Amino acid sequence: MSGADGSLVRVGLGVARAAACILLVLTGTFGCDSDGGGSAGCGSPTRDCTLAEAADDAGVWIGAAIDDPSAPPAQMTVADHFNSVTAENAMKWGSVAPTVGNYDFAAADAIVDLAESRGARMRGHTLVWRMQQPADLRAQVDAAEDPAARLREILAEHIGVEVGRYRGRVAAWDVVNEPLAPIGEQIDRNLFMRTLGEMYLDEAFQLAHAADPEATLFLNEYFYDHTSADARVSAFRDLVARLIDRGVPLHGVGIQAHFYGPVTPLPERAAFEAMLRSFTDLGVVLELTELDISINYFAAAADPLFAQAAAYADIVAACMAVGGCQAVTTWGVDDAQTWLDTNPQFSGSAPHMPLLFDAALIPKPAYFAVRDVIAGR
Ligand code: XIL
Repeated sequence: MSGADGSLVRVGLGVARAAACILLVLTGTFGCDSDGGGSAGCGSPTRDCTLAEAADDAGVWIGAAIDDPSAPPAQMTVADHFNSVTAENAMKWGSVAPTVGNYDFAAADAIVDLAESRGARMRGHTLVWRMQQPADLRAQVDAAEDPAARLREILAEHIGVEVGRYRGRVAAWDVVNEPLAPIGEQIDRNLFMRTLGEMYLDEAFQLAHAADPEATLFLNEYFYDHTSADARVSAFRDLVARLIDRGVPLHGVGIQAHFYGPVTPLPERAAFEAMLRSFTDLGVVLELTELDISINYFAAAADPLFAQAAAYADIVAACMAVGGCQAVTTWGVDDAQTWLDTNPQFSGSAPHMPLLFDAALIPKPAYFAVRDVIAGR
């Protein structure tokens, strides 16, 4: 791959788009050159348009999680295709502080710099999570005479330092990630819950708000059944409602939206839209924060890539139909570096090919499907 200016991708975009348009028309799935009710320019017959242009025109964010800001996927796509960036790992607590209080922001800074230099919004992911913590966090809390006081002190310092460092540069934070237990409806009995009770959530949000009053603060979670009647979804909605009732500065809900296999069935578009609306009805904004859709759902389809594109279109269309749904972020840029292929939980069914660009950084049919849905908002 060459051409860090994205020229190769732009060429690829034209070629791939032409091929995709022919196939999409043949399959009757999508129009190509109709303006789809979108803004002038995007989708017009005379002008190719990128995902980022469609998103800019529609007033939404389309983002990608980036691990290595100097690698071609980041360099070649952030300027042209994404107007929002999330750090896949670099801003997690254990990344910025391998041990409690010992900070190294080099990797996080590089991603924030990339986003800023390309005019993209930066999402901060994530301040408080049961995973990827400083190596000695638990030991420090356990060894303290007053573990609750010590954890409060550590949390206040960490959130103050990290949010304070990026004040005004990171627009949105996943303040707490995955508050629910991995399976079921209970609040996860992690170190924070065991030591401080449910109020750890309130305190984390208050600390983040104090460190950057302008930042939009999110509670981020994953689900298996993405419909509003699901017990895990209801439990999460109840939790969000409780926090709002308690006056916690929680402004947004993040729905991770990882679709990787039989335990995460693809929802019907209307059911998914109703689920999203059940959150925005609480008065918060909403984002799909970590979207990926495995190709494995479509193994029996005549053309798996086009079936995947149709699924992407449905998921993103549900978000676009809900007023408070302001962003969609894919968890990675291209199929060569998806977490689903390396994480032991999912790698057994690799390759998942779950993203919008293929391993050669050529936009897939899903790219154009998402672009056209956003252009039609
Ligand atoms: C994942 C990263 O993609 C991997 O590189 C890392 O090894 C583990 O974490 N939910 C989240 C993300 O909120 O932070 C996770 O990211 C994926 C699941």
